[in-house]
Amino acid sequence: RPVEIITIQAGQCGNSVGQQFWQQLCQEHGINQDGNLEDFATEGGDRKDVFFYQSDDTRYIPRAILLDLEPRVLHGIQNSAYKNIYNPENFYIHKDGTGAGNNWATGYHMGEQVQDEVLDMIDREADGSDSLEGFMLLHSIAGGTGSGLGSFMLERLNDRFPKKLIQTYSVFPNTQDGDIVVQPYNSLLSMKRLTQNADSVVVLDNGALSRIAADRLHVQNPSFQQTNQLVSTVMSASTTTLRYPGYMHNDLVGIVASLIPTPRCHFLMTSYTPFSGENVEQAKTVRKTTVLDVMRRLLQPKNRMVSTSPTKRSCYMSILNIIQGEADPTDVHKSLLRIRERHLATFIPWGPASIQVALTRKSPYIPSSHRVSGLMLANHTGIATLFKRILTQYNALRKRNAFLESYKREPMFEGGLDEFDDAREVVLGLVREYEDAEREDYLSREEEGGAGGGGEGEGEAGDKRVPV
Ligand code: GTP
Repeated sequence: RPVEIITIQAGQCGNSVGQQFWQQLCQEHGINQDGNLEDFATEGGDRKDVFFYQSDDTRYIPRAILLDLEPRVLHGIQNSAYKNIYNPENFYIHKDGTGAGNNWATGYHMGEQVQDEVLDMIDREADGSDSLEGFMLLHSIAGGTGSGLGSFMLERLNDRFPKKLIQTYSVFPNTQDGDIVVQPYNSLLSMKRLTQNADSVVVLDNGALSRIAADRLHVQNPSFQQTNQLVSTVMSASTTTLRYPGYMHNDLVGIVASLIPTPRCHFLMTSYTPFSGENVEQAKTVRKTTVLDVMRRLLQPKNRMVSTSPTKRSCYMSILNIIQGEADPTDVHKSLLRIRERHLATFIPWGPASIQVALTRKSPYIPSSHRVSGLMLANHTGIATLFKRILTQYNALRKRNAFLESYKREPMFEGGLDEFDDAREVVLGLVREYEDAEREDYLSREEEGGAGGGGEGEGEAGDKRVPV
């Protein structure tokens, strides 16, 4: 059973998030700052090989490729406490060191120019794995490198590894108050690749992350370090069923299949609760955490790490709750009944209306003040409202022909702006697909060839029952 995952991190955001993710995985698996197993880490039963391989001297090394077009963040990692865990050959810093200047087209073009070198690194890493299941891309879609180079990599990975899964953790910009004027351009162009070249996209946005840091953790104006702790907690929780396998959801394919009934609608929202004092100092409030509390909180819109404005028709296509800690199946069963009685979650009219639950272990090496914690991975049609907002902001910029000069200087746009128009069509199509999915007759429309999906919803939906 293929389980190994190669992580590719691109740009400032991708690498900063990745840095915290690797630190957290090391701590959870009892791997010290030099990649050696701690003396106390004797419990076993965890699968370190999903994200790490072992060197000749048995040190654990992340299956991570770190890419950037400017040196600052990667130099930071090379001088950090965990600098020794990484394979030094897996850092790629562009020799010009200029970055992509918040221009998607620059990042994409630089990707084209350096592809041989970067793909060699990826091939080497892939060849070194025994049973590669897929890739995880960490990036933001608002700047130039994570978005442009990241987009280029998604296309190449698809060509080169057509059978491997590609999942991304994509940080969307704050659409209310973004820090980059051209973020609608960069986001739209990235969205096309996320739609066409990824199997599953975990969407997080900086607006929601800041809001959660402020509301839930009482940190005003959180630093990236603090918001990235939220992100790495989500990443760690969403991979626990792979790293501490039970009998279901123990590979990426299993998780993706259980969440994504129709291939195009593969954008996932997350909620996590409770953020604990170990992760974020300010969150050290004492709470009673029963399974029901956790599952209720996961459904509250304010805990979602993505800013959407659901409509009356918005509904869930699927939910997977990953519950960690001391939870027993009876509690889970009762909680699910209660949630159903109270109508706390509305599902699509054409599929099974059930919350799937995976009970998993927690790392035995990290003390926790909470009995139970949970992550919700949800496929919710309301995500389309975020994409609509990006389209609206794109339309406004484009109508004014604003800031197009630096794009026109790159090869992608030398002959015209068709790529923008094409990306807009793709994202409009995606929004339509989600809106169609809210209709009762979605599957029959699909079969008539109306929408772009694969129409394989029904078959897979059959086994999507709660494993309790
Ligand atoms: P260039 O700077 O153009 O070379 O591209 P880049 O991909 O390195 O840019 P960056 O990753 O900084 O992308 C900009 C977007 O990412 C903006 O929306 C930032 O707010 C956001 N961002 C940057 N760093 C971080 C981070 O560490 N965490 C989070 N959550 N967001 C970040």
